[in-house]
Amino acid sequence: MNETLEVKSILESKPELGKVYVETYGCQMNEYDSGIIKSLMQKADYSNSEDVENSDIIFLNTCAVRENAHAKIYSRLQSLGYLKKKNPNLVIGVLGCMAQNLGEDLFHEELPLDLVVGPDNYRDLPSLITKIRNGEKKTNLTRLSKIETYDEIEPEVINGIQAFVTIMRGCNNFCTFCVVPYTRGRERSREIHSIVEEIKKLQDKGIKQITLLGQNVNSYKTGTHDFARLIESILEKTNIERIRFTSPHPKDFPKHLLHLMAKEKRFSPNIHLPLQAGNTRVLDKMNRTYTKEEYLDLVNEIRSIVPDVGLTTDIIVGFPTETNDEFLDTLDVVKKVEFDMAFMFKYSEREGTVAKRNYSDDVTEEDKSKRLTELVELQTSISHKLNKEKIGQIFEVLIEDRSKKSEKDLSGRTNSGRMCVFPKPENSSLEEMIGKTVNVKIEQATSATLKGQIQ
Ligand code: 5AD
Ligand code: SF4
Repeated sequence: MNETLEVKSILESKPELGKVYVETYGCQMNEYDSGIIKSLMQKADYSNSEDVENSDIIFLNTCAVRENAHAKIYSRLQSLGYLKKKNPNLVIGVLGCMAQNLGEDLFHEELPLDLVVGPDNYRDLPSLITKIRNGEKKTNLTRLSKIETYDEIEPEVINGIQAFVTIMRGCNNFCTFCVVPYTRGRERSREIHSIVEEIKKLQDKGIKQITLLGQNVNSYKTGTHDFARLIESILEKTNIERIRFTSPHPKDFPKHLLHLMAKEKRFSPNIHLPLQAGNTRVLDKMNRTYTKEEYLDLVNEIRSIVPDVGLTTDIIVGFPTETNDEFLDTLDVVKKVEFDMAFMFKYSEREGTVAKRNYSDDVTEEDKSKRLTELVELQTSISHKLNKEKIGQIFEVLIEDRSKKSEKDLSGRTNSGRMCVFPKPENSSLEEMIGKTVNVKIEQATSATLKGQIQ
């Protein structure tokens, strides 16, 4: 090696403090946060690792929304025990919502665990790791913040041509079943200019579609600027091709937001509108702040302003005291609305929530299962029917990836969020097709996917 090269290589090889492996569970907010965590660790001279066996630090970024999310982490931690035995210097941390929810109680289990850190404390990760390396045992930091938005941290979250951008954090709604207000704290929004700058940088990296994220994304507010104003700024100041958002609350859908969606082609007509339950008494007990009729009125208003909107939802069955007759109201709303797709869950009692404190989990497991099966069957038949109605129609599809099932097929979404699969043109490479918008004529449909041919 000549002398200049040698000096250059010494300067470039900063001492590296270790390899960090991050495993993500739960929602898209957690995926985004894992990007923040990786970015913060890199700034502190750690590198990212994709190989759990060959890392110095393992972070599990966790979810707490249902009991099975917790169960997954306990069993994952147990399965990591052999790595800890092989390398006693390995640091294992539980981060995210389960960390915030259970705090130092997590150390009471016999688990290979050194560190527990909540969603508002990631800036402290490097110093906490240093403490552990200096001999501190079982370290725990779960302090919720009223202001932390990780505003200036550029996360590492790019997946092909799409990226997530968190615009607000936390929740003030306190639905009685939900642990999120306790694990994510109060609502706080990022400044418009910082969101716009982040999107411009993503655009420069070739990103075509962004999904704005927040626990109550449409409750976004800074000063006098609301969610619609933020969308207008993004449309005005960036060339990003598609803007999506999740998850909104039905209480924050002003008409001007819907008109903006109807008018602006780049703003996807795609709304995830969590229903949770169809019966007004149950909705009241859930503290959802709308009745069955108000929800149905909102859907009608949305469809009258944005006729080709794609609607999806979340539904819980077996909330405490829900009777079978009341559950029929949920089926009734599902029939009336005809959602494109739904995420459906059995109620799961969560530590710290109002429902756990005030109501007993009195719907039997058998009834919960029966209701869930009935609901899933109904929704699957609706999704299938709606998809079959699309046969013969032509949709603009943004190509996101190859199809999961076949290398010969491409997959992407229509503007209103419907998943579409179609053959890759011969003589074209995957790389040149990803990110293109093509017209696809639909020829077949399952309950989850539209299948067709590029026109
Ligand atoms: N039990 C079951 N499902 C829940 N969700 C939130 N909390 C619970 C719970 N305790 C569901 C809601 C929410 C989605 C993210 O998870 O439907 O919208
Ligand atoms: Fe949970 Fe309700 Fe807040 Fe959504 S709006 S995060 S369901 S408390």
